[in-house]
Amino acid sequence: MKTTPVDSKAVHAKDFGNHFIWGVSSSALQTEGAHKTDQKGPSIWDAFADKGKIKSGHHHYQANEFYYRYLQDIDLIQQMGIPNFRFSLSWPRLLPDGVGSLNPKGIDFYHRVIDACLEKGIEPWVTLYHWDLPYLLEKKGGWTNREVIDWFLEYTQKAVKLFGDKVKHWMILNEPLVFTGAGYFGGVHAPGRKGLKNFLPASLHASICIAEGFRLVKDMQPKAQVGSTFSFSHLTPYSHAPNHLRACHKMDALLNRMFLEPTLGLGYPTEEIPALRKIEKYMKAGDDEKLKVPLDFIGVQVYTREVVKSSLFTPYLRSKLVPANERKVYHTKMNWEVYPKSIYEIVKKVQSYKGVNQIIVTENGASFEDELFLGRVEDLHRIHYLKQHMEELFKAKQDFHKLNGYFVWSLTDNFEWAEGYHQRFGLVYVDFETQMRFTKNSGYWYRDFLSGAGK
Ligand code: FCB
Repeated sequence: MKTTPVDSKAVHAKDFGNHFIWGVSSSALQTEGAHKTDQKGPSIWDAFADKGKIKSGHHHYQANEFYYRYLQDIDLIQQMGIPNFRFSLSWPRLLPDGVGSLNPKGIDFYHRVIDACLEKGIEPWVTLYHWDLPYLLEKKGGWTNREVIDWFLEYTQKAVKLFGDKVKHWMILNEPLVFTGAGYFGGVHAPGRKGLKNFLPASLHASICIAEGFRLVKDMQPKAQVGSTFSFSHLTPYSHAPNHLRACHKMDALLNRMFLEPTLGLGYPTEEIPALRKIEKYMKAGDDEKLKVPLDFIGVQVYTREVVKSSLFTPYLRSKLVPANERKVYHTKMNWEVYPKSIYEIVKKVQSYKGVNQIIVTENGASFEDELFLGRVEDLHRIHYLKQHMEELFKAKQDFHKLNGYFVWSLTDNFEWAEGYHQRFGLVYVDFETQMRFTKNSGYWYRDFLSGAGK
């Protein structure tokens, strides 16, 4: 199909060198559907959606039917010339009770997905946990129960034994701050729990799982590249008044440091957030050392920047974010400011830590109001977003040698957690009535960016 004209002066994938990793990302719960099919066990999101907790009563029960349409979707990746595909395994599809017996149908499904990728020359990048905890484990306390470390390691051991011969790139957890913060502190994601007493143990156990999971995968597959992904946002204080600067440091400690720093042996940022000291209550002797882990790569996920204001009424943090629409800046449908420099600033920040081996941007992308017209989606806003981010990424690549890859979020429109289907992030449009796929102009743009067409 005809494409958007390519600007020959613009940055292209080739400018990043031959070894730079280019890809596209997705996750199991957001795409697969088939939530009760073929002996899949329930996840915490099933229970959450059953209670009507998703915007407009949406749910992920069908999602975009990746479970049935994976061949078509992997074809689309090939047509766009994208060499790497990041997706996640559904823990309850493989282990319906969370632990114990494996589900042969689940095993078969992921073998088929991985084989289809490999047959088409697409490298699979597998995330072990992208937020869909088996519901039966949540009944036993979920992430707040220290036993989750054993449960997770049992699942990891089984998954790597099953797929480790074919999968050479693994990510342990996806964005621990988001699933513990939204799921165990704010109650806006599954399992909908609230408060510090849930958040702190869940966070600690998630961090231990990153470290122990890494060691286990490396023991089993020493040559595999193993990382974990973290959410980051570039932060700017509301003004240079000392109270806003202080607020900005606190927010930075929560949003950017709380999960990365313990993995690097730096402990928790308790000076900025004294309430984090309470995490010690859940720690056992030796945990400090256990948390330290030489990840092969840090998966950086960055979408926006945030402006931070002092807020005396906000417990623990005394700071809050000023939403993009209030600031009257250009933003996506998620109300996330479009601020491409954020990607540069975050790579700079992550590289500045001693002990970081490699940085791969494992998610970046944008949701806009897309319109399907005569089979086309002319998503100029998304193209613009991606182009600008590539320019900043290119600058980052020149300045920070540890940066080595970039994945767009996401392949197809999908189920955007608490936002349901209101947010479309895909390079491929999905008509959720018919489940038909239509590559958006941004998909064609990414194809041309990768091939260097027009250069
Ligand atoms: C990230 C999640 C991903 C997707 C994007 C928009 O926080 O990892 O699943 O929802 O945001």
